[in-house]
Amino acid sequence: MRANSRDELMEQSNKSGFNSKLGVILAAAGSAIGLGNIWKFPYEAGQNGGGAFLLVYLICVIVFGMPLLMTEILIGRKAGKSTFSAFRAISGNNHWQWLGWWSALTVFVITGFYFVVTGWCVDYLYEATVNSYAGMGTNELLAHFTANTSNTLKMLICGIIPVLITAAILWFGVSSGIERLSKILMPLLFIMMTLMVIRVLLLEGSGTGLRFFLAPDFSQITPAVVMTAAGQCFFSLSVGLGLMITYGAYMPKDQDATKTSFIVILLDTLVAVLAGIIIFPAVFAFGFNPAEGPQLVFVVLPAVLQHMTFAWISGVFFFLLLFIAALTSTISLMEVIVVSIMELSHGKLNRHQSVLIATAVICATVAVYVLSMTGVWSGLKLFGHSLFDLSDTLVTTFMMPLSALSMSLFIGWFMPLQDKDLVPYSQKRYKQWLRPLFIFTLRWIVPIAIVLIFLNGLGIFNL
Ligand code: PFF
Repeated sequence: MRANSRDELMEQSNKSGFNSKLGVILAAAGSAIGLGNIWKFPYEAGQNGGGAFLLVYLICVIVFGMPLLMTEILIGRKAGKSTFSAFRAISGNNHWQWLGWWSALTVFVITGFYFVVTGWCVDYLYEATVNSYAGMGTNELLAHFTANTSNTLKMLICGIIPVLITAAILWFGVSSGIERLSKILMPLLFIMMTLMVIRVLLLEGSGTGLRFFLAPDFSQITPAVVMTAAGQCFFSLSVGLGLMITYGAYMPKDQDATKTSFIVILLDTLVAVLAGIIIFPAVFAFGFNPAEGPQLVFVVLPAVLQHMTFAWISGVFFFLLLFIAALTSTISLMEVIVVSIMELSHGKLNRHQSVLIATAVICATVAVYVLSMTGVWSGLKLFGHSLFDLSDTLVTTFMMPLSALSMSLFIGWFMPLQDKDLVPYSQKRYKQWLRPLFIFTLRWIVPIAIVLIFLNGLGIFNL
Protein backbone atom coordinates (compact mmCIF):
# COMPACT_ATOMS: atom_id res chain seq x y z
CA MET A 1 0.00 0.00 0.00
CA ARG A 2 1.34 3.46 -0.81
CA ALA A 3 0.79 5.97 1.92
CA ASN A 4 0.37 8.91 -0.37
CA SER A 5 -3.03 10.35 0.14
CA ARG A 6 -4.65 11.74 3.21
CA ASP A 7 -7.31 9.02 3.12
CA GLU A 8 -4.73 6.27 3.01
CA LEU A 9 -2.78 7.91 5.78
CA MET A 10 -5.88 8.37 7.87
CA GLU A 11 -6.76 4.74 7.26
CA GLN A 12 -3.28 3.75 8.41
CA SER A 13 -3.48 6.15 11.28
CA ASN A 14 -6.71 4.65 12.49
CA LYS A 15 -5.00 1.30 12.48
CA SER A 16 -2.06 2.75 14.34
CA GLY A 17 -4.35 4.49 16.79
CA PHE A 18 -3.61 8.12 15.90
CA ASN A 19 -7.30 8.80 15.60
CA SER A 20 -7.71 10.89 18.69
CA LYS A 21 -6.15 14.22 19.58
CA LEU A 22 -4.56 12.74 22.66
CA GLY A 23 -3.27 9.88 20.50
CA VAL A 24 -1.28 12.28 18.30
CA ILE A 25 0.11 14.15 21.29
CA LEU A 26 1.12 10.87 22.91
CA ALA A 27 2.71 9.56 19.73
CA ALA A 28 4.66 12.78 19.19
CA ALA A 29 5.65 12.99 22.87
CA GLY A 30 6.54 9.28 22.78
CA SER A 31 8.86 9.93 19.85
CA ALA A 32 10.38 13.01 21.47
CA ILE A 33 10.86 11.69 25.01
CA GLY A 34 13.50 8.99 25.13
CA LEU A 35 17.20 8.44 25.52
CA GLY A 36 17.84 11.93 24.23
CA ASN A 37 16.35 13.38 27.40
CA ILE A 38 17.55 10.96 30.04
CA TRP A 39 20.90 9.79 28.62
CA LYS A 40 22.17 12.31 26.06
CA PHE A 41 21.05 15.60 27.61
CA PRO A 42 22.72 15.07 31.03
CA TYR A 43 26.03 13.87 29.60
CA GLU A 44 26.19 16.72 27.09
CA ALA A 45 25.29 19.21 29.83
CA GLY A 46 28.04 17.67 31.97
CA GLN A 47 30.63 18.09 29.20
CA ASN A 48 29.52 21.60 28.27
CA GLY A 49 29.41 23.61 31.45
CA GLY A 50 26.17 22.46 33.13
CA GLY A 51 24.03 25.56 33.68
CA ALA A 52 25.51 27.31 30.64
CA PHE A 53 24.43 24.40 28.46
CA LEU A 54 20.96 24.32 30.03
CA LEU A 55 20.47 28.02 29.32
CA VAL A 56 21.58 27.78 25.68
CA TYR A 57 19.50 24.64 25.25
CA LEU A 58 16.34 26.37 26.53
CA ILE A 59 16.95 29.29 24.15
CA CYS A 60 17.36 26.83 21.26
CA VAL A 61 14.09 25.11 22.21
CA ILE A 62 12.25 28.44 21.99
CA VAL A 63 14.03 29.76 18.88
CA PHE A 64 14.15 26.55 16.81
CA GLY A 65 12.18 23.88 18.56
CA MET A 66 8.75 25.46 18.70
CA PRO A 67 8.69 26.96 15.14
CA LEU A 68 10.19 23.86 13.56
CA LEU A 69 7.92 21.40 15.30
CA MET A 70 4.96 23.51 14.18
CA THR A 71 6.37 23.72 10.65
CA GLU A 72 6.69 19.97 10.33
CA ILE A 73 3.20 19.36 11.70
CA LEU A 74 1.73 22.00 9.37
CA ILE A 75 3.56 20.66 6.29
CA GLY A 76 2.15 17.21 7.07
CA ARG A 77 -1.32 18.54 7.70
CA LYS A 78 -1.34 20.59 4.47
CA ALA A 79 0.15 17.83 2.30
CA GLY A 80 -1.69 14.95 3.94
CA LYS A 81 1.34 12.84 3.05
CA SER A 82 4.34 11.30 4.70
CA THR A 83 7.77 12.98 4.74
CA PHE A 84 8.89 11.39 1.54
CA SER A 85 6.19 12.85 -0.71
CA ALA A 86 5.06 15.90 1.27
CA PHE A 87 7.45 18.42 -0.34
CA ARG A 88 6.52 17.37 -3.86
CA ALA A 89 2.83 17.48 -2.95
CA ILE A 90 2.98 21.02 -1.57
CA SER A 91 5.32 22.58 -4.13
CA GLY A 92 3.83 20.74 -7.10
CA ASN A 93 7.31 20.05 -8.50
CA ASN A 94 10.34 17.88 -7.85
CA HIS A 95 12.75 20.62 -6.75
CA TRP A 96 12.31 19.84 -3.06
CA GLN A 97 12.20 16.08 -3.38
CA TRP A 98 15.83 15.83 -2.26
CA LEU A 99 14.66 16.95 1.19
CA GLY A 100 12.49 13.83 1.44
CA TRP A 101 15.53 11.73 0.54
CA TRP A 102 17.77 13.66 2.92
CA SER A 103 15.34 13.14 5.82
CA ALA A 104 15.08 9.41 5.07
CA LEU A 105 18.89 9.13 4.98
CA THR A 106 19.20 11.02 8.28
CA VAL A 107 16.68 8.71 9.93
CA PHE A 108 18.59 5.73 8.61
CA VAL A 109 21.94 6.93 10.02
CA ILE A 110 20.52 7.77 13.45
CA THR A 111 18.36 4.64 13.85
CA GLY A 112 21.26 2.18 14.16
CA PHE A 113 22.96 4.49 16.65
CA TYR A 114 19.76 4.77 18.70
CA PHE A 115 19.29 1.01 18.81
CA VAL A 116 22.84 0.48 20.09
CA VAL A 117 22.16 2.80 23.04
CA THR A 118 18.73 1.20 23.56
CA GLY A 119 20.77 -2.02 23.80
CA TRP A 120 22.65 -0.52 26.74
CA CYS A 121 19.25 -0.04 28.44
CA VAL A 122 18.38 -3.68 27.74
CA ASP A 123 21.66 -4.65 29.36
CA TYR A 124 21.04 -2.44 32.38
CA LEU A 125 17.50 -3.78 32.72
CA TYR A 126 19.09 -7.20 32.95
CA GLU A 127 21.80 -5.93 35.35
CA ALA A 128 19.12 -4.40 37.56
CA THR A 129 17.08 -7.61 37.51
CA VAL A 130 20.00 -9.78 38.60
CA ASN A 131 21.13 -7.00 40.96
CA SER A 132 24.66 -7.11 39.55
CA TYR A 133 25.61 -3.56 40.49
CA ALA A 134 24.40 -3.78 44.11
CA GLY A 135 27.02 -2.52 46.54
CA MET A 136 29.37 -1.20 43.84
CA GLY A 137 31.23 2.05 44.43
CA THR A 138 32.07 4.80 41.94
CA ASN A 139 35.11 3.16 40.32
CA GLU A 140 33.53 -0.27 40.19
CA LEU A 141 30.45 1.15 38.46
CA LEU A 142 32.68 2.77 35.85
CA ALA A 143 34.64 -0.43 35.30
CA HIS A 144 31.37 -2.38 35.12
CA PHE A 145 30.06 -0.16 32.33
CA THR A 146 33.31 -0.46 30.36
CA ALA A 147 33.33 -4.25 30.77
CA ASN A 148 29.70 -4.51 29.63
CA THR A 149 29.99 -2.28 26.59
CA SER A 150 33.22 -3.80 25.41
CA ASN A 151 31.67 -7.26 25.31
CA THR A 152 30.95 -7.38 21.58
CA LEU A 153 28.62 -10.38 21.61
CA LYS A 154 26.58 -9.05 24.52
CA MET A 155 26.25 -5.63 22.85
CA LEU A 156 25.20 -7.26 19.57
CA ILE A 157 22.50 -9.30 21.30
CA CYS A 158 21.33 -6.34 23.41
CA GLY A 159 21.20 -4.07 20.33
CA ILE A 160 19.31 -6.54 18.20
CA ILE A 161 16.65 -7.39 20.84
CA PRO A 162 15.00 -3.92 20.65
CA VAL A 163 15.15 -4.03 16.81
CA LEU A 164 13.18 -7.29 16.88
CA ILE A 165 10.69 -5.98 19.47
CA THR A 166 10.14 -2.77 17.46
CA ALA A 167 9.75 -4.80 14.26
CA ALA A 168 7.19 -7.06 15.94
CA ILE A 169 5.22 -4.01 17.11
CA LEU A 170 5.22 -2.57 13.58
CA TRP A 171 4.49 -5.96 12.02
CA PHE A 172 1.44 -6.66 14.17
CA GLY A 173 0.33 -3.02 13.97
CA VAL A 174 0.02 -2.82 17.73
CA SER A 175 1.43 0.69 18.05
CA SER A 176 -1.96 1.70 19.41
CA GLY A 177 -1.47 -0.79 22.24
CA ILE A 178 1.91 0.76 22.95
CA GLU A 179 0.32 4.18 22.99
CA ARG A 180 -2.34 3.06 25.40
CA LEU A 181 0.43 1.60 27.49
CA SER A 182 2.43 4.82 27.34
CA LYS A 183 -0.63 6.70 28.60
CA ILE A 184 0.02 4.85 31.86
CA LEU A 185 3.79 4.50 31.65
CA MET A 186 4.67 8.11 30.82
CA PRO A 187 3.03 9.42 34.01
CA LEU A 188 4.77 6.62 35.89
CA LEU A 189 8.09 7.76 34.45
CA PHE A 190 7.39 11.28 35.75
CA ILE A 191 6.48 9.90 39.20
CA MET A 192 9.54 7.67 39.34
CA MET A 193 11.81 10.53 38.31
CA THR A 194 10.23 12.82 40.90
CA LEU A 195 10.91 10.22 43.61
CA MET A 196 14.51 10.01 42.43
CA VAL A 197 14.80 13.81 42.53
CA ILE A 198 13.67 13.76 46.16
CA ARG A 199 16.19 11.01 46.97
CA VAL A 200 19.16 12.78 45.41
CA LEU A 201 18.31 16.10 47.00
CA LEU A 202 18.60 14.39 50.37
CA LEU A 203 22.17 13.29 49.58
CA GLU A 204 24.93 15.14 51.34
CA GLY A 205 26.63 17.59 49.00
CA SER A 206 23.77 17.63 46.49
CA GLY A 207 23.73 21.47 46.48
CA THR A 208 26.99 21.63 44.48
CA GLY A 209 25.49 19.54 41.69
CA LEU A 210 22.30 21.51 41.69
CA ARG A 211 24.25 24.74 41.33
CA PHE A 212 26.40 23.24 38.57
CA PHE A 213 23.26 22.39 36.59
CA LEU A 214 21.01 25.34 37.35
CA ALA A 215 23.31 28.35 37.77
CA PRO A 216 24.83 29.29 34.40
CA ASP A 217 28.45 30.35 34.25
CA PHE A 218 28.33 32.62 31.20
CA SER A 219 32.06 32.29 30.54
CA GLN A 220 31.41 28.66 29.60
CA ILE A 221 29.26 29.58 26.60
CA THR A 222 31.44 28.83 23.58
CA PRO A 223 30.61 28.13 19.91
CA ALA A 224 30.99 24.43 20.58
CA VAL A 225 28.47 24.63 23.44
CA VAL A 226 25.96 26.46 21.23
CA MET A 227 26.38 23.95 18.42
CA THR A 228 25.99 20.97 20.74
CA ALA A 229 22.93 22.49 22.43
CA ALA A 230 21.29 23.22 19.07
CA GLY A 231 21.98 19.66 17.87
CA GLN A 232 20.58 18.29 21.11
CA CYS A 233 17.44 20.40 20.67
CA PHE A 234 16.79 18.84 17.23
CA PHE A 235 17.57 15.36 18.50
CA SER A 236 15.48 15.60 21.64
CA LEU A 237 12.40 17.09 19.99
CA SER A 238 12.71 14.73 16.99
CA VAL A 239 12.64 17.72 14.62
CA GLY A 240 14.69 18.13 11.48
CA LEU A 241 13.95 14.64 10.19
CA GLY A 242 10.50 15.30 8.84
CA LEU A 243 9.18 12.68 11.21
CA MET A 244 6.58 15.05 12.60
CA ILE A 245 5.37 15.66 9.03
CA THR A 246 3.94 12.16 9.01
CA TYR A 247 2.31 12.80 12.39
CA GLY A 248 0.88 16.07 11.06
CA ALA A 249 -0.73 14.14 8.23
CA TYR A 250 -2.21 11.74 10.77
CA MET A 251 -3.69 14.57 12.87
CA PRO A 252 -7.44 14.94 13.17
CA LYS A 253 -8.48 18.05 11.24
CA ASP A 254 -9.61 20.03 14.22
CA GLN A 255 -6.44 19.53 16.22
CA ASP A 256 -4.63 22.71 17.25
CA ALA A 257 -1.05 22.47 15.93
CA THR A 258 0.23 25.26 18.20
CA LYS A 259 -1.13 23.66 21.33
CA THR A 260 0.08 20.20 20.32
CA SER A 261 3.62 21.47 19.66
CA PHE A 262 3.63 23.40 22.91
CA ILE A 263 2.56 20.41 25.01
CA VAL A 264 5.10 18.10 23.35
CA ILE A 265 7.91 20.60 23.90
CA LEU A 266 6.92 21.24 27.49
CA LEU A 267 6.84 17.53 28.39
CA ASP A 268 10.09 16.85 26.57
CA THR A 269 11.92 19.71 28.27
CA LEU A 270 10.52 18.75 31.65
CA VAL A 271 11.91 15.21 31.39
CA ALA A 272 15.34 16.51 30.33
CA VAL A 273 15.47 18.99 33.22
CA LEU A 274 14.30 16.34 35.71
CA ALA A 275 17.04 14.04 34.43
CA GLY A 276 19.62 16.79 35.03
CA ILE A 277 18.27 17.41 38.53
CA ILE A 278 18.71 13.71 39.31
CA ILE A 279 22.11 13.24 37.73
CA PHE A 280 24.17 16.25 38.81
CA PRO A 281 23.55 16.29 42.56
CA ALA A 282 24.36 12.56 42.51
CA VAL A 283 27.48 13.14 40.37
CA PHE A 284 28.92 15.48 42.96
CA ALA A 285 27.66 13.57 45.99
CA PHE A 286 29.22 10.29 44.80
CA GLY A 287 32.39 11.81 43.35
CA PHE A 288 31.83 11.15 39.64
CA ASN A 289 33.19 13.44 36.93
CA PRO A 290 30.36 15.49 35.32
CA ALA A 291 32.24 15.39 32.00
CA GLU A 292 32.37 11.60 32.07
CA GLY A 293 30.72 11.34 28.64
CA PRO A 294 28.22 8.79 27.30
CA GLN A 295 28.65 6.47 30.26
CA LEU A 296 27.62 9.16 32.78
CA VAL A 297 23.98 8.15 33.22
CA PHE A 298 24.70 4.42 33.21
CA VAL A 299 27.11 4.78 36.11
CA VAL A 300 25.33 7.47 38.11
CA LEU A 301 21.79 6.08 37.97
CA PRO A 302 22.70 2.68 39.45
CA ALA A 303 24.48 4.60 42.23
CA VAL A 304 21.29 6.58 42.93
CA LEU A 305 18.99 3.58 42.58
CA GLN A 306 21.00 1.62 45.15
CA HIS A 307 20.11 4.32 47.65
CA MET A 308 16.37 4.23 47.00
CA THR A 309 14.13 2.69 49.68
CA PHE A 310 13.15 -0.33 47.60
CA ALA A 311 16.45 -0.48 45.77
CA TRP A 312 16.04 -3.63 43.69
CA ILE A 313 12.51 -3.04 42.52
CA SER A 314 13.23 0.68 41.93
CA GLY A 315 16.16 -0.29 39.66
CA VAL A 316 14.18 -2.81 37.63
CA PHE A 317 11.22 -0.47 37.37
CA PHE A 318 13.32 2.53 36.32
CA PHE A 319 15.26 0.71 33.60
CA LEU A 320 12.02 -0.85 32.35
CA LEU A 321 10.47 2.62 32.04
CA LEU A 322 13.61 3.92 30.33
CA PHE A 323 13.52 1.00 27.90
CA ILE A 324 9.86 1.67 27.07
CA ALA A 325 10.56 5.40 26.60
CA ALA A 326 13.32 4.39 24.16
CA LEU A 327 10.98 1.95 22.43
CA THR A 328 8.35 4.62 21.70
CA SER A 329 11.14 6.55 19.94
CA THR A 330 12.48 3.53 18.02
CA ILE A 331 8.93 2.80 16.82
CA SER A 332 8.71 6.29 15.31
CA LEU A 333 12.16 5.99 13.67
CA MET A 334 11.60 2.54 12.22
CA GLU A 335 8.11 3.48 11.00
CA VAL A 336 9.69 6.19 8.82
CA ILE A 337 12.08 3.62 7.33
CA VAL A 338 9.24 1.16 6.69
CA VAL A 339 7.07 3.80 4.99
CA SER A 340 10.07 5.01 2.94
CA ILE A 341 10.72 1.46 1.70
CA MET A 342 7.05 1.09 0.74
CA GLU A 343 7.09 4.38 -1.14
CA LEU A 344 10.41 3.63 -2.85
CA SER A 345 9.03 0.34 -4.13
CA HIS A 346 6.03 2.19 -5.63
CA GLY A 347 3.60 -0.08 -3.89
CA LYS A 348 5.28 -3.33 -4.91
CA LEU A 349 6.25 -4.13 -1.34
CA ASN A 350 3.58 -4.42 1.30
CA ARG A 351 3.95 -3.42 4.93
CA HIS A 352 5.10 -6.81 6.15
CA GLN A 353 7.75 -7.14 3.45
CA SER A 354 8.97 -3.63 4.19
CA VAL A 355 9.18 -4.40 7.92
CA LEU A 356 11.34 -7.45 7.11
CA ILE A 357 13.69 -5.45 4.89
CA ALA A 358 13.93 -2.62 7.43
CA THR A 359 14.70 -5.16 10.19
CA ALA A 360 17.49 -6.77 8.19
CA VAL A 361 19.03 -3.43 7.24
CA ILE A 362 18.85 -2.04 10.79
CA CYS A 363 20.31 -5.22 12.32
CA ALA A 364 23.21 -4.93 9.88
CA THR A 365 23.72 -1.26 10.83
CA VAL A 366 23.63 -2.10 14.55
CA ALA A 367 26.27 -4.79 13.93
CA VAL A 368 28.48 -2.31 12.05
CA TYR A 369 28.20 0.29 14.83
CA VAL A 370 28.88 -2.26 17.60
CA LEU A 371 31.89 -3.66 15.77
CA SER A 372 33.16 -0.14 15.19
CA MET A 373 33.07 0.49 18.95
CA THR A 374 34.38 -2.69 20.43
CA GLY A 375 35.00 -5.30 17.81
CA VAL A 376 37.20 -5.88 14.83
CA TRP A 377 36.69 -2.40 13.42
CA SER A 378 37.43 -0.48 16.61
CA GLY A 379 40.68 0.74 15.06
CA LEU A 380 38.80 2.21 12.11
CA LYS A 381 38.52 5.96 12.54
CA LEU A 382 36.98 8.57 10.27
CA PHE A 383 37.88 12.17 11.10
CA GLY A 384 39.18 10.84 14.41
CA HIS A 385 35.85 9.23 15.38
CA SER A 386 34.56 5.67 15.39
CA LEU A 387 31.63 5.11 13.01
CA PHE A 388 29.32 5.01 16.04
CA ASP A 389 30.42 8.43 17.34
CA LEU A 390 30.55 9.87 13.85
CA SER A 391 26.91 8.93 13.14
CA ASP A 392 25.78 10.90 16.18
CA THR A 393 27.93 13.96 15.46
CA LEU A 394 27.05 13.96 11.77
CA VAL A 395 23.31 13.72 12.37
CA THR A 396 22.95 16.21 15.19
CA THR A 397 25.40 18.88 14.07
CA PHE A 398 24.96 18.67 10.32
CA MET A 399 22.17 16.54 8.86
CA MET A 400 19.30 17.58 11.15
CA PRO A 401 20.18 21.32 11.15
CA LEU A 402 20.52 21.29 7.35
CA SER A 403 17.07 19.82 6.82
CA ALA A 404 15.64 22.12 9.49
CA LEU A 405 17.18 25.08 7.62
CA SER A 406 15.73 23.87 4.32
CA MET A 407 12.29 23.33 5.79
CA SER A 408 12.21 26.79 7.30
CA LEU A 409 13.22 28.30 3.93
CA PHE A 410 10.65 26.16 2.15
CA ILE A 411 7.79 27.32 4.34
CA GLY A 412 9.11 30.82 5.02
CA TRP A 413 10.01 31.89 1.47
CA PHE A 414 8.87 29.45 -1.15
CA MET A 415 5.57 28.10 0.01
CA PRO A 416 4.35 30.54 2.67
CA LEU A 417 1.53 29.14 4.70
CA GLN A 418 -1.77 30.96 4.54
CA ASP A 419 -4.05 31.79 7.44
CA LYS A 420 -6.19 28.81 6.57
CA ASP A 421 -3.20 26.47 6.95
CA LEU A 422 -2.56 27.78 10.41
CA VAL A 423 -6.10 27.99 11.69
CA PRO A 424 -7.04 24.63 13.03
CA TYR A 425 -10.54 24.01 11.75
CA SER A 426 -12.44 24.42 14.98
CA GLN A 427 -10.14 26.79 16.78
CA LYS A 428 -12.25 29.76 17.70
CA ARG A 429 -9.64 32.04 19.12
CA TYR A 430 -7.21 32.26 16.18
CA LYS A 431 -4.79 35.04 16.85
CA GLN A 432 -4.13 37.31 13.87
CA TRP A 433 -0.56 37.93 14.98
CA LEU A 434 0.32 34.27 14.90
CA ARG A 435 0.96 33.92 11.15
CA PRO A 436 3.17 37.01 10.72
CA LEU A 437 5.20 36.02 13.78
CA PHE A 438 5.51 32.45 12.59
CA ILE A 439 6.51 33.43 9.03
CA PHE A 440 8.97 36.05 10.29
CA THR A 441 10.61 33.48 12.57
CA LEU A 442 10.91 30.96 9.74
CA ARG A 443 12.15 33.52 7.21
CA TRP A 444 14.76 35.22 9.31
CA ILE A 445 15.36 34.00 12.82
CA VAL A 446 15.65 30.23 12.26
CA PRO A 447 17.79 30.35 9.07
CA ILE A 448 20.10 33.09 10.31
CA ALA A 449 20.58 31.35 13.65
CA ILE A 450 21.31 27.98 12.02
CA VAL A 451 23.77 29.52 9.51
CA LEU A 452 25.54 31.45 12.30
CA ILE A 453 25.84 28.29 14.37
CA PHE A 454 27.27 26.42 11.37
CA LEU A 455 29.81 29.15 10.59
CA ASN A 456 30.66 29.43 14.24
CA GLY A 457 31.19 25.71 14.57
CA LEU A 458 33.42 25.69 11.51
CA GLY A 459 35.44 28.53 12.97
CA ILE A 460 34.63 30.79 9.99
CA PHE A 461 32.76 33.30 12.08
CA ASN A 462 33.21 33.98 15.75
CA LEU A 463 30.49 35.40 17.93
N1 PFF B 1 13.78 12.40 20.36
C1 PFF B 1 14.29 11.10 20.69
C2 PFF B 1 14.96 11.17 22.03
O1 PFF B 1 15.15 12.26 22.57
O2 PFF B 1 15.32 10.14 22.56
C3 PFF B 1 15.24 10.60 19.65
C4 PFF B 1 14.70 10.68 18.26
C5 PFF B 1 13.56 9.96 17.92
C6 PFF B 1 15.30 11.54 17.36
C7 PFF B 1 13.02 10.11 16.66
C8 PFF B 1 14.76 11.68 16.10
C9 PFF B 1 13.63 10.97 15.77
F1 PFF B 1 13.15 11.11 14.57
